[in-house]
Amino acid sequence: MKKKKRIIITVDGYSSCGKSTFAKAIASELGYLYIDSGAMYRAVTLYSLRKGFVSGGVADAGRIISALPAIKVSFRTDRETGYFVTLLNGETVEREIRDRAVSDNVSAVSTIAEVRSKLVDLQRELGAGGGIVMDGRDIGTVVFPGAELKIFMTARPEVRAQRRYLELVSKGLPADFDAVVKNITDRDRIDSSRDVSPLRQADDAVILDNSDMTPGEQMKWFRKLFNKRMNES
Ligand code: DC
Repeated sequence: MKKKKRIIITVDGYSSCGKSTFAKAIASELGYLYIDSGAMYRAVTLYSLRKGFVSGGVADAGRIISALPAIKVSFRTDRETGYFVTLLNGETVEREIRDRAVSDNVSAVSTIAEVRSKLVDLQRELGAGGGIVMDGRDIGTVVFPGAELKIFMTARPEVRAQRRYLELVSKGLPADFDAVVKNITDRDRIDSSRDVSPLRQADDAVILDNSDMTPGEQMKWFRKLFNKRMNES
């Protein structure tokens, strides 16, 4: 019997449109590895915040670039949830990297070409064997332009802000709706307009606007797309 090919699936799109929830669900259904590339940019941002290399959305690129060899981002699998947990120089930082200070500064750090180059190398290494679902902003365009299945996710801004707000509340984190709207709008603008690897839809990506879709409907949509793609190849 022909062995089923384990492909690379990329999920790119705007902030807070449910990329990671969707990507995790499809990885778990297929028995693929889920990789959160945003967590890597967040980990470098956390390091830079702790060192005072970034604040108020302004990054000292020179100092961050000099520090790059000392920043090691890695992952381990949580035994209970089976999910990847992000490590910064060996320390588990999964919770810290979701803090507001990191969200407010991550776009500034992500515009630095040397940061991107280091993390893209790591992303390619992790995905080299296939059988992965990776979410981010430039995964289908820059990291894996040859990926077999590319999805570009979007949702109306007010729907995204509401989801992000509820996520923060459910985690017991401080949440202010207007601040969430501002963070999402600012990140969309910076992520889409930066010079290096801006957020844009790959020409061969399939769009998923999930503004009015339940998680179940999204999975149904995905299964149809995946089966069609696998039958074509
Ligand atoms: O997916 P996320 O919101 O956790 O990502 C955090 C930030 O990291 C996002 O605002 C932009 C940056 N990012 C990026 O530039 N490229 C990626 N592939 C993933 C994230």
